[in-house]
Amino acid sequence: MRIFEWDESHAVYVPAVDEEHRQLFRLCDELQRAMMAGAPSSDVQSIVDHLVIHTAQHFSHEEREMRAAGYPHYAWHHRQHHTARFRIKVLERRIRRGDRDAALELLDFLSGWLNDHVRLADRMLGAYLRNRQREFAAQAS
Ligand SMILES: [Fe+2]
Ligand SMILES: [Fe+2]
Repeated sequence: MRIFEWDESHAVYVPAVDEEHRQLFRLCDELQRAMMAGAPSSDVQSIVDHLVIHTAQHFSHEEREMRAAGYPHYAWHHRQHHTARFRIKVLERRIRRGDRDAALELLDFLSGWLNDHVRLADRMLGAYLRNRQREFAAQAS
């Protein structure tokens, strides 16, 4: 059993992004609990639907922030999102057909993603956005 719990090591210190990450952790935890409890496929599917929508919205949000800020590592970060979108879509299709192993694979994938991508790529982005805000604030004063 994996532990899906947001902690300070995942903090990017951009409140809206941190809240979206927290929600991702909560949904993964919910999915894992449903799987462990042998929940019916319709319940599993509904959590997965939620997860897929939330992930897509979250990626789009970060990408909008990156473009608006002229983030220099946009292509690299976007590529990572693109790879994840593709992987999630493939697994989602299998889950929709009732393949429960695919739901476990999705949890495995997201667990790695939340630890690797959030702790490196998203934290780098958070640091950049905060620096930029500080620069603007300094110029304005
Ligand atoms: Fe990201
Ligand atoms: Fe993120």
